[in-house]
Amino acid sequence: MKNTISWVLILFLTISLLNNCLNNKVQKEIKEKNAFIAKLRELYSSGDSSKWPKPILDPEAESFFVEIGHLPDIQFPEDNPYSEEKALLGKTLFFDPRLSGSNQIACASCHDPELGWGDNRTFSFGHDRQLGTRNAMSILNVAYAKSLFWDGRVGSLEEQSHVPIQDKFEMSEHIDIATGKIAKIKGYEALFEKSFGSKEVTKDKIAKAIATFERTVKSSPTKFDQFIDGKSDAFSDKELLGLHLFRTKAQCINCHNSGYFSNNQFENVGTSVLGTNDEDLGRYLITKNVDDVGKFRVPSLREVVRTGPWMHNGSFKTLTEVIEFYSKANPETASKRETIHEGITLHSNKSGMVRFLELTDEEISQIEAFLGTISTKNQRIIPPQLPK
Ligand code: HEC
Ligand code: HEC
Repeated sequence: MKNTISWVLILFLTISLLNNCLNNKVQKEIKEKNAFIAKLRELYSSGDSSKWPKPILDPEAESFFVEIGHLPDIQFPEDNPYSEEKALLGKTLFFDPRLSGSNQIACASCHDPELGWGDNRTFSFGHDRQLGTRNAMSILNVAYAKSLFWDGRVGSLEEQSHVPIQDKFEMSEHIDIATGKIAKIKGYEALFEKSFGSKEVTKDKIAKAIATFERTVKSSPTKFDQFIDGKSDAFSDKELLGLHLFRTKAQCINCHNSGYFSNNQFENVGTSVLGTNDEDLGRYLITKNVDDVGKFRVPSLREVVRTGPWMHNGSFKTLTEVIEFYSKANPETASKRETIHEGITLHSNKSGMVRFLELTDEEISQIEAFLGTISTKNQRIIPPQLPK
């Protein structure tokens, strides 16, 4: 009997000792984690990005790398400088459906300020309610894009604005007819006069005014901008860890960098679904260079929360899905990597920078929380009065 009691006692003592050790270990881990988070918070909100932990970069990303941070001031081209009057004229034209063949579709139909300056649809409806083949891009912060469209086929906003007007699937109007229609509207005379010194309407002036307006469509400072400027309590732990992952383990920063969160390069992340009805050769369609098959312009991630569905084909409905896709190195099926186009066999070669990341569900949600900090709330834009 005595023996059994001592055994029970010994067992009890051993268990409590072990338990104690374990508790201490857990406590120590929590302490370390808290110290790590506090340190990260101190560095990232120090107001000096040279104090931040080093990013994890691929050698091939280095030459296009600029640390993430604030958006710089907007640059207006010398041959199309800013004026308030010109921006107002551009805004008015942007909202005016009379630029379209049906007099029903304005730029703002697909770039709606209440929908993050996009249309939140997989593909846009255009002339005669025809469906386009690519996801409408937001024009927020477009002043920072070095080339335009998912494939970068146009080099300036001035040049860009005539494309949707003439596109059969979008506004479907000849630019000269559109210009003629605007010229006949009396109420536009004063706007052109104030912007360009003469009331004569030309397609060139229409392009310059719309481009000037678009350059002014810029995000206001985000929670991220405030946090890195020193407002150290602006970020939750989750958002902070997301920022750190974005720059390190998840390596998003290889491509989504600078204040614009894009290096303005073309990359293949494996979204071209070759050989299917939805195949999109991307940059190759412009350059005809086989290395460009399946490459798209790296989009900005500022305001990304507001611009879904995501990717050139709007194929992702949630940001969680996008991050999971990167974490799994985009499990693109072999059968969707090859196609025959104009008699040439083409292959999609995914960038080596899209690799297995092994992110945990918690890490995925931290990155998603961080993406929320580079987006702002919808600002109500009052549409301009359309001239009569
Ligand atoms: C029917 C819908 C629709 C209309 C109308 C429309 N767009 Fe777009 N916009 C799109 C789509 C779709 C894309 C992406 C197309 C692509 O990459 O091939 C786009 C892309 C753009 C881009 C490129 C953004 C970037 O980051 O590269 C700009 C700028 C733009 N549109 C401005 C305009 C202007 C200005 C007008 C009016 C003159 C206009 N859009 C009318 C659907 C539309
Ligand atoms: C190799 C360069 C590269 C890397 C690394 C990369 N991206 Fe991208 N990202 C792109 C390209 C290119 C696209 C556009 C692809 C398309 O439209 O088919 C894109 C698109 C996106 C989009 C959709 C944006 C939109 O407006 O539709 C999100 C969100 C995104 N990336 C987030 C991330 C995150 C988060 C990471 C890190 C886990 C990451 N990216 C890593 C190049 C990259």
